[in-house]
Amino acid sequence: MATLFQRLNRKLQAWWKLNRFPDQALQAIDDVPAKIQAQIESQLFARYDQWRPEINIAPLTDPLDGKVFDYPERLNRIKYLVAQTLTSSVDYITATRIEGDIVEFGVGSGWTSAVLSRSMQHAARRRMHLFDSFEGLPVSASTVDQASPMVKSGIWGGGTCNWGITPEQLLRMLRNEFPSVDVEIYKGWFSDTMSRIPAGTKVAMAHIDCDLYQSTRDVIDHLLSNRMLSKGAILLFDDWTCNQCDPDMGQQRAWREAVETYGIKYMDYGFYSHAGKRFIYHGH
Ligand SMILES: C[S@@+](CC[C@H](N)C(=O)[O-])C[C@H]1O[C@@H](n2cnc3c(N)ncnc32)[C@H](O)[C@@H]1O
Repeated sequence: MATLFQRLNRKLQAWWKLNRFPDQALQAIDDVPAKIQAQIESQLFARYDQWRPEINIAPLTDPLDGKVFDYPERLNRIKYLVAQTLTSSVDYITATRIEGDIVEFGVGSGWTSAVLSRSMQHAARRRMHLFDSFEGLPVSASTVDQASPMVKSGIWGGGTCNWGITPEQLLRMLRNEFPSVDVEIYKGWFSDTMSRIPAGTKVAMAHIDCDLYQSTRDVIDHLLSNRMLSKGAILLFDDWTCNQCDPDMGQQRAWREAVETYGIKYMDYGFYSHAGKRFIYHGH
């Protein structure tokens, strides 16, 4: 007969294992079709190799087991944590029955769209609206962005973050791999395309992965001024800690200004991966 301590210890170990390697998150990565993975990964690695001298990333050591992650491994680790969060966010809106669709601003390579589609396969019927220029980032016009280290270094220059995927290719891949998911793609600058989303559309989840202050501001302003967010909607900011985590730059500044302007009531839902931040919207 196991002692109380042994039983508790076993429970703790099971909990720990589950939380470090949740099945769903692993599947979210594994099930993204191999073709899409291979294409995206080779492009991502090439991009990180190009950035490496500028951003001077040291190899990362896992404090838990001392394992040193090289760049591809590190990227996989980042992707794993992002996939885990996207999946659990879809689970949140499903379990708590938040009304509305999923919107993504910043489709880029299509990888996060694929993870979201995979997570939505068994979710209640919702539409996924994907927004991107498919030409990379805009040239920064706002003085806030122009002062940002990421823009100044050229990493977030006009036309960067362009994977060369077309909306037609992405739609074909997603429809082929995840036929049950209802997807709409909006090509162009957010400020032009957001008004094309059908009137009356409610949003349960917004994945905001567009790097820049101005792009983020455009997105939040549109969602809030048109009262599109449902009570309990989840907002994910992928680039929260970029720009050396400066609160006066990028997504941190865009959100703070929106909170002040609109009087948003919200809950801080914590950080994810190395750069992300989540909030739950209560109202404004
Ligand atoms: C970091 S990437 C997104 C990465 C993506 N989630 C993935 O899985 O690969 C940022 C994207 O935001 C888009 N973007 C940023 N600002 C935009 C704007 N104002 N209008 C349209 N697209 C924009 C860029 O074209 C780029 O593809």
